[in-house]
Amino acid sequence: MLNSPLPATVPVDEAARVTEQAAVAPGFFRLRFHAPHIARHAVPGQFVQVRVTDDLEPFLRRPFSIGDADPSRGLIEIVYHVVGKGSRRLSERKAGETIPLLGPLGNGFRLPGCGTVVLVGGGVGMPPVYFAAKSIRGCHVCVIQGARCAERLLYREELSSLGIPHRETTEDGSAGSQGLVTAALIETLSDFTPDERKGPVEILACGPPPMLAAVAEIARAHGVRCQVSVEERMACGFGICMGCAVQKRTAGSKEYALVCVDGPVFDATEIALAPSS
Ligand SMILES: Cc1cc2nc3c(=O)[nH]c(=O)nc-3n(C[C@H](O)[C@H](O)[C@H](O)COP(=O)(O)OP(=O)(O)OC[C@H]3O[C@@H](n4cnc5c(N)ncnc54)[C@H](O)[C@@H]3O)c2cc1C
Ligand code: FES
Repeated sequence: MLNSPLPATVPVDEAARVTEQAAVAPGFFRLRFHAPHIARHAVPGQFVQVRVTDDLEPFLRRPFSIGDADPSRGLIEIVYHVVGKGSRRLSERKAGETIPLLGPLGNGFRLPGCGTVVLVGGGVGMPPVYFAAKSIRGCHVCVIQGARCAERLLYREELSSLGIPHRETTEDGSAGSQGLVTAALIETLSDFTPDERKGPVEILACGPPPMLAAVAEIARAHGVRCQVSVEERMACGFGICMGCAVQKRTAGSKEYALVCVDGPVFDATEIALAPSS
């Protein structure tokens, strides 16, 4: 049984007013927008295509996952890492400015309605994981998140204040257990209570490609379902340019899916996840 049907909403190009731009860690920012249409229709795992500047540099919009949506106030947020010119220009935008957002785009997670859901977020894969964690109803939920260091663990306070159980891992050991999220995932699956073992278990994950490949392999080995949100590079964001194709796992012939319209969320068995990409 599912809590949320897959979205059938037509995306709009909404003139969104920036209500807040805040640094959440060095090089990481949270942007909140007043974007009532997108806020009303967004489901966890969907994304927006952001026109980062008013001029033509950079020309292409940049995709960012919706990290939270409040339909009653018409607000949405994204959390992003500055990695290049688009995200740098975005970090210069101020409250009160208007930024065109195309969305909500993509399919979003199928949120289970019973059993146990383990959400796994790596680095800037946390925004859709947090939005899913706070949206799931009727399930045991736990979040495992990993980052390079403590200050890059996103949504820590929000998860704590919602009372969502979460485990943390950092590569340098500055918070939680030292190591990768995958080790914590294996431990979590092994530590399930008899009650949790009885019901269905599903993993929802978003993070870098090697993490998703490892999570998918752990899910397969434990016999649990797994959905992955793939943050492939994109150009158009709505199925025209073919720039975001990923190979499907079909025996024999080579078939491709488009991350922007068929995803970004896929069943982990559906597409080829490259461990080293
Ligand atoms: C569906 C989706 C959701 C996303 N959600 C988020 C999010 O919530 N928060 C966030 O910080 N980022 C997210 N991203 C990634 C984000 O879109 C890119 O970081 C951004 O487009 C980079 O733009 P730029 O102009 O700053 O960097 P560019 O100048 O375009 O590139 C700078 C460097 O970043 C690398 N890069 C660019 N895009 C990606 C990518 N998609 N994956 C891996 N490396 C990339 C480039 O190869 C290059 O090395 C998401 C991507 C997708 C497709
Ligand atoms: S980004 Fe253009 S088809 Fe997906």
